[in-house]
Amino acid sequence: AKNVGILAMEIYFPPTCIQQEVLEAHDGASKGKYTIGLGQDCMAFCSEVEDVISMSMTAVTSLLEKYNVDPKQIGRLEVGSETVLDKSKSIKTFLMPIFEKCGNTDIEGVDSSNACYGGTAALFNCVNWVESSSWDGRYGLVVCTDSAVYAEGPARPTGGAAAIAMLIGPNAPVAFESKLRSSHMAHVYDFYKPDLASEYPVVDGKLSQTCYLMALDACYKGFCQKFEKQEGKQFSILDADYFVFHSPYNKLVQKSFSRLLFNDFSRNASSIDEAAKEKLAPFSSLSNEESYQSRDLEKIQKLFGLTVIFSQASQQVAKPFFDTKVQPSTLIPKQVGNMYTASLYAAFASLIHNKSSTLAGQRVILFSYGSGLAATMFSLRFTKGEKPFSLSNIASVMNVSEKLKSRNEFPPEKFVELMQLMEHRYGGKDFITSKDCSLLAPGTYYLTEVDSKYRRFYAKK
Ligand code: ACO
Repeated sequence: AKNVGILAMEIYFPPTCIQQEVLEAHDGASKGKYTIGLGQDCMAFCSEVEDVISMSMTAVTSLLEKYNVDPKQIGRLEVGSETVLDKSKSIKTFLMPIFEKCGNTDIEGVDSSNACYGGTAALFNCVNWVESSSWDGRYGLVVCTDSAVYAEGPARPTGGAAAIAMLIGPNAPVAFESKLRSSHMAHVYDFYKPDLASEYPVVDGKLSQTCYLMALDACYKGFCQKFEKQEGKQFSILDADYFVFHSPYNKLVQKSFSRLLFNDFSRNASSIDEAAKEKLAPFSSLSNEESYQSRDLEKIQKLFGLTVIFSQASQQVAKPFFDTKVQPSTLIPKQVGNMYTASLYAAFASLIHNKSSTLAGQRVILFSYGSGLAATMFSLRFTKGEKPFSLSNIASVMNVSEKLKSRNEFPPEKFVELMQLMEHRYGGKDFITSKDCSLLAPGTYYLTEVDSKYRRFYAKK
């Protein structure tokens, strides 16, 4: 199979959300901390009738319907998630009734998990399957589904929720450049979920930021080496049209892109002109370790992340690059929040939403990060594609603007009350939900009941 990649996409996020400005005031944080400091606009969350299973059911059925794909045509189904509702039974099995009722139970694949990386693992599994000798000619289907919720405190505004479904096959408008892929994996305790009675992670926020940036550096370094080996020329950010990052919050995305530029500077790559070199010269003697840990890191981050990106004086270095190469992928993550496994692909969906008519022929580099940690940087190439699997049709099916517009904003008191109810319900049994689906769009699945044997029941609006 040639040009294996993403043929079609659908995104679902709950219609329930809270404005970051409102949450910031309610939490007593200083004005601007969530909106400018973290760079977030709004945060989606599951109400008591939604969960990662219902969201994935909604995304999968909607994709099959809207692209007119026969469920019998799916030969592999992989789910990436870090939201544990069952320690044994995979989310994938909850999706099987969609296929069983069409007589298709011959579908490989189960769930992948490692924090926000599980979706990428699932995607690679499907792409590798289509490229392998065990491929039977049918499509792969990848689902990334998560509900990111944090305990009260500084991490709470970095939550979010969504499910994304991606159809995988040959001759795709979004094709993998499979040789251009570099990973970095290590053992760290930056963010983990050891308490099985709680949905909330244990998180060392500062460490997770450093681990993310170190993994980014390592992946970029490896990626550049592989590119240079294959193409016989040095890689710089000029060799890709777009960069899409796993997006826990927008500020980290700004810093990440700045770090790629700093890497280009250290490698003396062509993206850094004389003027930029002069600005960056004072930082050339910093070791990597220093650049992550010391106050000088702040200086670099300020230089790249803030000063360079936002101040008038020195915006020449990163700001124009950021605006053209990164900005188009930031919409959904800023509006919905961290969607864990779905975050990177929601950023990618934003790029297709914003630029579908001009992407053909262009290259995009994606960076996936999951705490604990697992990270990969990889490259995709766009072609126009043919309907229904064309870039323009993907954009129109996802209908992102409409979905964002038709949401329902919760006041903070109601949000906090809901979080408390969900804390209480997590891992619980023997309850019936309100079954109130009035805020959900037609076609959305929702949770109705968890019975005395912990079995979960869903209905479709
Ligand atoms: N106006 C403007 N900016 C402000 C304001 C204000 N009033 N107040 C603070 N800021 C800035 C800070 O300067 C900082 O920016 P900087 O890093 O560029 O200096 C930013 O806002 C955040 O402020 P901090 O004090 O660093 O925030 P805090 O430590 O309280 O929390 C954190 C941030 C660590 C990200 C927390 O939300 C968290 O733990 N989140 C979960 C972990 C996470 O998402 N990690 C990312 C990778 S791992 C993953 O994907 C889960």
